[in-house]
Amino acid sequence: MKQLNKNIILANLPKNRVNLVIFDEIASTNEVSKDTLINNEFNLVLAEKQTAGKGRHGKNWHSPKSGNIYMSLSTKKELNYAPLSLLVGIICANVLSEYTDKGAVGLKWPNDIVVNNKKIGGILIEKEISNNEITTIAGIGINFLIDSKEKWWGDLSDFNVSNKRDQIISMITSNIINLFENKNEDWINEWLRYCIHIDKKVKIIKTNNTYEDAIFKSIDQDGCALLETETGIKIFNSGEISIKGVY
Ligand code: BTN
Repeated sequence: MKQLNKNIILANLPKNRVNLVIFDEIASTNEVSKDTLINNEFNLVLAEKQTAGKGRHGKNWHSPKSGNIYMSLSTKKELNYAPLSLLVGIICANVLSEYTDKGAVGLKWPNDIVVNNKKIGGILIEKEISNNEITTIAGIGINFLIDSKEKWWGDLSDFNVSNKRDQIISMITSNIINLFENKNEDWINEWLRYCIHIDKKVKIIKTNNTYEDAIFKSIDQDGCALLETETGIKIFNSGEISIKGVY
């Protein structure tokens, strides 16, 4: 396994604006990223392995040392025009599409990265407030290689990308930084093009564990899901429900 390489990652990034820290092993890159001592316009924290990787909905993110990406980019800048989590999903899909077969990478609402109908990556956006300042942390995990016993999960091992990790991290970072400077006007259409379950039957799982069948129709400006149910169109945000039955 090729170790993360600081020089390659920073080669095309604005070095005076990005503070890069690489750990061999850390609890969670999102947690380190919140540390106000590491303070630049953007903090990029990477690790070869996480011992307490965090997923959405309080789940663990299995983070072995097998050449996967565990990255967190934090900033005090704010993005007001669209939900960062969906925009970061589009960026990851765009970058990974350059290294995989055409049409191989898709997105499942709100921001799971999917290849061949299996989840290969996820995004955890967190906000930290201290001294009246908000820090936004975009945490991204992408599986390059997982244990074959983990049948539910997918990885990128079908593609020749194991030596492209630094370039992929660098491009994702540079595109996220760009989001804060150049508005992506077309983000809904871009997201819909990657979505693997438009007009498909899904199960809405609510936080109280009840479920309802629906057809996933679209998303709105806030990134909420528009779902057609027996009682009409319903709108949910990603904190209220998760969707199952896609794969
Ligand atoms: C999900 O549940 O789909 C989101 C997973 C996010 C995992 C990444 S790995 C890097 C960063 N650090 C963490 O502890 N979590 C995120």
